[in-house]
Amino acid sequence: MTKTIALIGGTGAMGRAVVNTLLNDETEDWNVRLLTRDPKSERALAMKAAGGDRVAFVIGDLYDGTGLDAVMKDAYGAFSNTNFWTAGEKSVARERAYGLKVLEAAERAGVTLFIHSSLDAAANRSDGAVPVPHYDAKASVEHEMDWRRSDEFFRQDHDGWYTNNTAILVTEPYIENFQSIFLPEKSTLSDGREGLIFRGPLAGDAPWPMVALDDIGAFARIMFADPDQWGGKTLRIGSDAPTISEAAATFEKVTGVPAEFAPPSDEAFLASDLPNAHDVLNNFIFYRKGHSAPRDYDALRAIYPGLRSFESWLRETGWRGGAGDVQKDAISGE
Ligand SMILES: NC(=O)c1ccc[n+]([C@@H]2O[C@H](COP(=O)([O-])OP(=O)(O)OC[C@H]3O[C@@H](n4cnc5c(N)ncnc54)[C@H](OP(=O)(O)O)[C@@H]3O)[C@@H](O)[C@H]2O)c1
Repeated sequence: MTKTIALIGGTGAMGRAVVNTLLNDETEDWNVRLLTRDPKSERALAMKAAGGDRVAFVIGDLYDGTGLDAVMKDAYGAFSNTNFWTAGEKSVARERAYGLKVLEAAERAGVTLFIHSSLDAAANRSDGAVPVPHYDAKASVEHEMDWRRSDEFFRQDHDGWYTNNTAILVTEPYIENFQSIFLPEKSTLSDGREGLIFRGPLAGDAPWPMVALDDIGAFARIMFADPDQWGGKTLRIGSDAPTISEAAATFEKVTGVPAEFAPPSDEAFLASDLPNAHDVLNNFIFYRKGHSAPRDYDALRAIYPGLRSFESWLRETGWRGGAGDVQKDAISGE
């Protein structure tokens, strides 16, 4: 039987990876239905061309909630990755409100499994020292879901939908950010060779946790395939966590292209033309100071043996430092 998955953010970098994984699944038949503001966007048209009748769109917008009930109607499951930079209007409270709207639309439709895509609760994990609004917004939806999944709420919510039918997938920075917002720069390295410089205000010895977009897709598929196992659960995923110095060395080893890591100062990073640099800087500081929630890669591999490392991702994709088609809207807020 074909099962339909509704997606919020389905045309985005993460949503597209989930869609591709579901459509390429050889074990089950999935269709996808995507909420989008524009089914004629280049990205939406490309996804339609690739997926044909198995890809449908519902026009809508999180601003006013249009399309939410329609996209969820009779869906078997739903995957929600709200976009802090646009739908969230760069406000924790607003993205939380949009996230809860999506959650409640999934409840009204009674989907078998709802997956909220989340990020580490930065303010909470750093005792308030390093708030990262675009992380904390998603985590605040996660916290509300934790409450609604609790025994106390269950006593009020007699059908137990939140307890049994909602899952949380906590992700990390995409590896593919290196092909977009953190593209390494062609330059002369400190030893005089011409090569690529990986930037980002991290410490050379601080792990930079990362996840391949296809690994996010794989874990979402695993959850949808077994809602009895994953309903009510939270899974913190990641693919690898090398330091950026190690990542640059691995890149050079695999590609033969000379590379090194050279972080800008925090001040230079803030002065760059990267939109929302203050929020992104705190994102780096969060990892630099080791506040992130640990991932158990062995346990994750037991769930998904195909889990990539940065090295295996490099070998699989053949990436040699060029730009790629990753985020639809980047982090410009446009
Ligand atoms: N970059 C990373 O490493 C990373 C890692 C984990 C999580 N995230 C989070 O992922 C989110 C961005 O997702 P992405 O990376 O997939 O970005 P993206 O490629 O730019 O995609 C943005 C998505 O959001 C949808 N969208 C934007 N505004 C909307 C609105 N008002 N109503 C309905 N849908 C709307 C877009 O749909 P249409 O344009 O088709 O309407 C599109 O599907 C951010 O909140 C970010 O914090 C990013």
